[in-house]
Amino acid sequence: NWTMSTFIEEQIEKIRDKVGNRKVLCALSGGVDSSVAAVLVHKAIGDQLTCIFVDHGLLRKDEGDQVERVFRQQFHMNFIPVNYEEHFLKKLSGIEDPEKKRKIIGNEFIRVFEKEAKKLEGIDFLVQGTIYPDVVESGTKTAAVIKSHHNVGGLPKDLQFELIEPLRTLFKDEVRAVGEELGIPRDIVWRQPFPGPGLAIRVLGEVTKGKLEILREADAILREEIKKAGLDQEIWQYFAVLPGIRSVGVMGDERTYDYTIALRAVTSSDAMTADWARIPYDVLEKISNRIVNEVQHVNRIVYDITSKPPSTIEWE
Ligand code: XMP
Repeated sequence: NWTMSTFIEEQIEKIRDKVGNRKVLCALSGGVDSSVAAVLVHKAIGDQLTCIFVDHGLLRKDEGDQVERVFRQQFHMNFIPVNYEEHFLKKLSGIEDPEKKRKIIGNEFIRVFEKEAKKLEGIDFLVQGTIYPDVVESGTKTAAVIKSHHNVGGLPKDLQFELIEPLRTLFKDEVRAVGEELGIPRDIVWRQPFPGPGLAIRVLGEVTKGKLEILREADAILREEIKKAGLDQEIWQYFAVLPGIRSVGVMGDERTYDYTIALRAVTSSDAMTADWARIPYDVLEKISNRIVNEVQHVNRIVYDITSKPPSTIEWE
């Protein structure tokens, strides 16, 4: 009779046996899988675990703080946040191609993590939030590559660590159940998917600090209103996009020439196909009004009503 709590007990015992009194490192992203894996390992070996949280400056509003609150204050973990915003912005400067952006972010993430890991001494193990679909998927890639899907959790296997992958046999819903059992807040356990390259693939074309700021604020308003309307559980993913086009508007008596924000919200069960979400007009209206009123340099809001296929969920 398999239950979440016996799974947790079994894994804790396994991890303790394997690690003994040695030290373990984790690259925490704030995503569901790495969070559940980290908390599980922490439950097994406590302070022998250290988590590095690389902020690439492409996260959503308040995301870094939220992750820090949970892991440092709630779980009392050795939590090392490192800020590499300037570094990533510099590397992305002048880059417009989505796949190039993904590649740069993926590569730099690994380099930065290795650099930070080297500062710590005597680490033997690395925790990875690999789940069962990851294991299966990597063996059966046949379809044409539409997007390279760089994931910040995807560290190279040639790091000099032995891997600990406690979630390797679980499906996503089981990972969430384990997370709830471990007391991880719902905001993390039920978090919507967020791409490894983050907001860099939602600012179309070149990524700049200014554009990121606009997008981050608009996205925060969208998320807040979707949650308030009670739609956050039925919509698979919902976010703002900055296409980078500007258009003419009027504010008071003044002509404006400012950015457009596109809202994207889809229902889906696996992200392979998706339908645009039928968000009620009054919710869209509220989001639109708030964004143009509260976010500088935005004077137009559009709603993306294409499904996947033929579109994709993300715009890049
Ligand atoms: P698309 O845009 O291809 O996205 O319909 C399908 C799902 O994958 C996510 N996505 C990514 N996730 N790194 C990731 O970790 C990426 O580069 C990436 N690109 C897209 C997307 O958010 C959706 O959930």
